[in-house]
Amino acid sequence: MKKFDKNKPYNALPPLPPRTNLESVEILKASIEANKLLAELKGYCQTLPNPNLLLNTIVLQESKESSAIENIVTTQDELYQETLRISDTIKNAAAKEVIQYREAMYWGLDEMEKKGFITTNLLVGIMQRLRNTDENIRNTPGTKLANPSNKQVVYTPPEGDQIIREKLKALENFMNDDDFSDLDGLVKMALIHYQFESIHPFSDGNGRTGRILNVLYLINQNLIGLPVLYLSYYIIQNKSDYYRLLREVTEKGNWAEWVLFIVKGVGETSALTLKKINAILQLKADSEADIKKALKASYSRELCDLLYSYPYIKIKILEENNIAKRQTASEYLKKLEKIGFLDTVKIGKETYYINKGLMDILSR
Ligand SMILES: Nc1ncnc2c1ncn2[C@@H]1O[C@H](COP(=O)(O)OP(=O)(O)O)[C@@H](O)[C@H]1O
Ligand SMILES: [Mg+2]
Repeated sequence: MKKFDKNKPYNALPPLPPRTNLESVEILKASIEANKLLAELKGYCQTLPNPNLLLNTIVLQESKESSAIENIVTTQDELYQETLRISDTIKNAAAKEVIQYREAMYWGLDEMEKKGFITTNLLVGIMQRLRNTDENIRNTPGTKLANPSNKQVVYTPPEGDQIIREKLKALENFMNDDDFSDLDGLVKMALIHYQFESIHPFSDGNGRTGRILNVLYLINQNLIGLPVLYLSYYIIQNKSDYYRLLREVTEKGNWAEWVLFIVKGVGETSALTLKKINAILQLKADSEADIKKALKASYSRELCDLLYSYPYIKIKILEENNIAKRQTASEYLKKLEKIGFLDTVKIGKETYYINKGLMDILSR
């Protein structure tokens, strides 16, 4: 292996898998534990009656944290307000990028399920959607990665679109090739994430595309059914380790610590995601009686579901979902405000109703 120089394009980045022991006792133990927790989350999601509706909020949380790693920061309130607007009227730039992130992920999921595997074009399409650009693979020199705290160059990714495409093709093969299937799926995900970030195929959006790839890969491997894993929360909590370990793989071949970091992260966030979903369901069950009492015969399961998939809601959403016409929908929401289940906030001409309990759980 040529010596790595952080200031020169790392065209010698070797393909996967690395020639190192990825089955130490420590790694095996960590992956058994993480797989168990992930399987629990997967199973739990399968039992939910209307998972997409309920889990949409969790997916948005992941989008928010993954964007925050890249300093695209929005508050929960801004974000959930903005989700109620149609996309070209969204005012807050960060919220807009977070919403685009979620759409890019759903698009990627759909494409992957159509084809059955993950391709370079799929990754390009995800990047284009989350950044709202028609840029493609980098073809101009000069991309360098700097330490976010002191701005010093820490890594220069491979240069030349031909080389980048070759490396992506090799990564594609690694992801889709059964020859490597004796490796644990989570260990493979860790390898893939490092590799994708090190190829760094785009001028921007690599971190976010790479984290979407993580969850798509888990779905592709049937390790989870829906894109609910909240892994970016773990990454942002351990951000300096995340950056340090990416560097250490390149500089010292420290794969073991990187793999452990990611695998443990999957375990921890599976447990966390499960707890969050549980808390939401508990709250939903607890509030049902109050909502029924307030709305009497107008109570419907559909309305209740809606209130738990939109932490911020407005009359129009009820109309659009055929719950009731404007006047009646407005009365429903007012009744729920009166019993203290919903809060209101007026912004411009629009009144937003807030499911306080749900917002609390999401913000925890
Ligand atoms: N030393 C490194 N080696 C490889 N990848 C790195 C390194 N340091 C950071 N990264 C990755 O680069 C990402 C940032 O790249 P960038 O293209 O700006 O992504 P985004 O626009 O999503 O911010 C980080 O989130 C991380 O995944
Ligand atoms: Mg960036």
